[in-house]
Amino acid sequence: MERRLLGNGGLGVSALKKLAILLFVFFMAFSVGAQTTKILIVYFTMPETDGIDTVSGASRVVKNGEVLGNTQFIAQCIQRAAGGDLFAIETVQKYPGAHAPLLDFAADEKRKNARPQLQRRISNLANYDVIFLGYPNWNADLPMPLYTFLEEYNFGGKTIVPFSTHGGSGFSNTIRTIARLQPRATVITNGFTVSRNIVGNAENDVRNWVRRLNLGQ
Ligand SMILES: Cc1cc2nc3c(=O)[nH]c(=O)nc-3n(C[C@H](O)[C@H](O)[C@H](O)COP(=O)(O)O)c2cc1C
Repeated sequence: MERRLLGNGGLGVSALKKLAILLFVFFMAFSVGAQTTKILIVYFTMPETDGIDTVSGASRVVKNGEVLGNTQFIAQCIQRAAGGDLFAIETVQKYPGAHAPLLDFAADEKRKNARPQLQRRISNLANYDVIFLGYPNWNADLPMPLYTFLEEYNFGGKTIVPFSTHGGSGFSNTIRTIARLQPRATVITNGFTVSRNIVGNAENDVRNWVRRLNLGQ
């Protein structure tokens, strides 16, 4: 017995049902995907090569034999908690790796109000809604490469979530500075900051902070 319906190009009823279900599933998957917040985690970090690990308060974390900058480590914790892509701000110039010369170099850069040239640009910024932005506190301020970065892009319509690592000063005024440099972005004021002395143990705190941000993931 032939069980085909006429006028449907020869497809049976059950095949049509399957097709409808497939289309529905595809549509739902696409629309759910479209609602997911797209996250980019941008950070600047400068691990010191003459330091010891953070138990003793130097500017680097050693995890599984890998040396990470303090802020880089927090960026990775954020990625584990929230997903998203990582982007490292890197300058064309090289910074001194040892503590004292780095302090002098950065102080000089700040005095000159320098805008160090950056290595790479973010090519697909339009894809992201939320930008986590991380940096070490340098001289109670943003490191100068962050000024270059914030002046090179327009984050209008996006949300910037600051995070930092520090040696005692917390954020200083850096969140206000970010808001001033990006007046058309929404800048979250309850960013995450952690002392370099305990940065290696901050993973849980980062996870809880990310959860409280309620990013709609
Ligand atoms: C050049 C320089 C200046 C710094 N100035 C400050 C400061 O003013 N206040 C503070 O709390 N920490 C200061 N620190 C400490 C760093 O914020 C801290 O070590 C940070 O965790 C380094 O992060 P990183 O390993 O990702 O570069 C300074 C560190 C450097 C290298």
